Amino acid sequence: MGNIKSRILSVGTYVPDKVLTNKYFESYLDTSDEWIMTRTGIRERRIVDPDNPMTAADMGCRAALVAMEKAKVKAEEIDGVIVATFTPDNFFPSTACRIQADLECKDAFAFDISAACAGFVYALTVANNMIVSGQAKTILVVGSEVISKTLDWNDRGTCILFGDGAGAVVLQADESGRSDRGILTCHLSSDGTMGDLLILPAWGDERFLSMKGNEVFKHAVRCMADSIYKVIDKTGMKLEDMDLLIPHQANIRIIQALANQMGIPMEKVIANLDKYGNTSSASVPLALEEAWMDGRIKDGTKIVFVGVGGGFTVGSVVCVM
Ligand SMILES: CC(C)(COP(=O)(O)OP(=O)(O)OC[C@H]1O[C@@H](n2cnc3c(N)ncnc32)[C@H](O)[C@@H]1OP(=O)(O)O)[C@@H](O)C(=O)NCCC(=O)NCCS
Repeated sequence: MGNIKSRILSVGTYVPDKVLTNKYFESYLDTSDEWIMTRTGIRERRIVDPDNPMTAADMGCRAALVAMEKAKVKAEEIDGVIVATFTPDNFFPSTACRIQADLECKDAFAFDISAACAGFVYALTVANNMIVSGQAKTILVVGSEVISKTLDWNDRGTCILFGDGAGAVVLQADESGRSDRGILTCHLSSDGTMGDLLILPAWGDERFLSMKGNEVFKHAVRCMADSIYKVIDKTGMKLEDMDLLIPHQANIRIIQALANQMGIPMEKVIANLDKYGNTSSASVPLALEEAWMDGRIKDGTKIVFVGVGGGFTVGSVVCVM
């Protein structure tokens, strides 16, 4: 049991059809396509239809189905469903329980994780630990968000940044006994003293996502760099040995600052937030899917995933595909 590693067999994604370009915001806010592009790298984002909105479970189901089909894994083989989201369908039942029911993953355990934009990396870490400990063999790890419903659409400092979407991976125990592939190490940490920098209240009349953008920016870069150094250190490898960095997609300037500070060439960094904006827990699987589809990920590719979000939460995972 001590040698079991978990492997990412596949990734699936779902984004709503409705595209909001930066031009849309020019129509009613004091902003411009140029400002948004240069300050964030975001060109457009997807949002659910406001008149007939899909939920996190709806989108998560679609992403999970794609991942299951790619991995050729049947619903009855799924031992657990873990969903990272800060925009759940309900406080309870969890979004994971709805996905478990809709996909008919009979008897699978199901629960949500609340770690904001680090949610997917947190969920991956928890799933990995459950597999490594022998408690489960196959787990669906989902990140799904309907952030458009949490935004103050008149706050130009936040509404331009986010988008809706979902991503899912099938994580499975690798019974080959090989120790050189699969998830090698994980690192998680939090700092609740910085909770007010980025917040979405659960109660009250004014329930919008709000943040201190500048401070979030600085902490995000510092926390992610620290987490990456720690997770790589545990592998015994060097940062230069890694083939790809797949970071949470918050702002291209955050990603560039991180890469620059750590001496990672941008060719090794996956960024697709120009198309989706910040989709929180869906952003890492959306970036993973793009890199996998365009051939940048092959057997043996060494990837560092890193996420950071409100809490503050930060986490990273080293995985050999
Ligand atoms: C929000 C963010 C893009 C703002 O960029 P910035 O370069 O830090 O800009 P500032 O906050 O210093 O604001 C500069 C000016 O632009 C204005 N501004 C903010 N949003 C604007 C917009 N959409 N269009 C035009 N001007 C805008 C501000 O009001 C400010 O004006 P002022 O100088 O008159 O007060 C940036 O701080 C950021 O991305 N932070 C991280 C946010 C994030 O990723 N959160 C999630 C993390 S998981």
